[in-house]
Amino acid sequence: MPLVDLKDMLRHARANGYAVGAYDAVDSNFVAAILAGAEAAQAPVILSFAESHFAHYDFASLVAAAEAQAKRSTVPVALFLDHGSGMASAVAAIRHGCNGVMVDASHLAFEDNLATTRDVAEMAHGVGVPVEGELGYVPGVEGEDAERHPGAMRMTSPEEAARYVDASGVDFLAVSVGTVHGRFRGEPRLDLDRLAAVAAAVAVPLVIHGGTGLSDEQFQALIARGVAKINYFTALSDLAAAAAANALAAVNSSYTAAIDAARRAVADEVMRTATVFGAAGRAQALLTECRPWRDVEHVILFNWSEEAMARAMDFEAEGCALLGSVPGVREVAIGRAIHEDVRYRRAWLIRLASAAAEGAYMQDERHLDYANRVFRPHAADRIKGDYMRE
Ligand code: 13P
Repeated sequence: MPLVDLKDMLRHARANGYAVGAYDAVDSNFVAAILAGAEAAQAPVILSFAESHFAHYDFASLVAAAEAQAKRSTVPVALFLDHGSGMASAVAAIRHGCNGVMVDASHLAFEDNLATTRDVAEMAHGVGVPVEGELGYVPGVEGEDAERHPGAMRMTSPEEAARYVDASGVDFLAVSVGTVHGRFRGEPRLDLDRLAAVAAAVAVPLVIHGGTGLSDEQFQALIARGVAKINYFTALSDLAAAAAANALAAVNSSYTAAIDAARRAVADEVMRTATVFGAAGRAQALLTECRPWRDVEHVILFNWSEEAMARAMDFEAEGCALLGSVPGVREVAIGRAIHEDVRYRRAWLIRLASAAAEGAYMQDERHLDYANRVFRPHAADRIKGDYMRE
């Protein structure tokens, strides 16, 4: 089943009165377990990667593993950068394969949050990727006791939300209405009237961070007021840790037994929450209404001119570095013909995040500079094409 466009996914959720779970994955076992839980529920799912967790895993490798597993999954999936810190993180996440990004500048003053978010949204929209921004402040750290991070909560103001969404162009708005990240003692007190007022003030789907610790009734009350994406991690982490510890305490236990137990615990909780969020059983309907998310291959077959041959290696190295830095470009490689008797001896193999990314790439200054200064004058003998990956 394909990756799907995240904007379509959350529009479907909002229009049909349910929310998609966005579960932070911290290793490939979490990825497999989250997908297994979503498949068991036949629910669309968002695999999230929180920048605060990058110390614990290699982001590029884990998203690559997630992308491969997602393509084999039986439910629609989106890959998401959670709590991205700014432009560089967003560009890198899209390069690695994320088709949705969050820019979290919610700790900044309103105007600075707006400016940071607007810049990222402009870049991401240019390459077809939707953006989540956050207004108000949700304290705490995913996976830890909320009491250890007692930052002051700032609730989202409906008036500011309208201005922020309008001026930044964000596709989804994360709101602060009483939740915190991490383990919470007691039941969080939610300001549902505020949430309803924010939902009335903006047209975009709303996002709740700090899903751990909310009751089923609280989730349903949030969804009834416009929440279409719920971020959830600490409970998965705690359940996985407890299941692994329990498995390791058994006689003749093993590392793989601990992994298996943790995976089962995560999958069960994803299945349970997807049902509470109303996402269970939505996979097939959603697929018919959402655009698939697919890479595009920009391929140029060419020959360097005779006089350029001595400098070809330098030209190619410069092209790989320069073109590889363009937002929306996932990979740039030079192909060398493996047979002698072919019309073209070289190929640029440029993988782009989407059809929109191909359009942006063609207009990008770095691309135009390289094409006009280096490539076109020295490689008149060439053909090109763009191909969407099936
Ligand atoms: P919890 O860890 O409290 O569930 O919050 C997750 C989250 O909001 C990730 O962005």
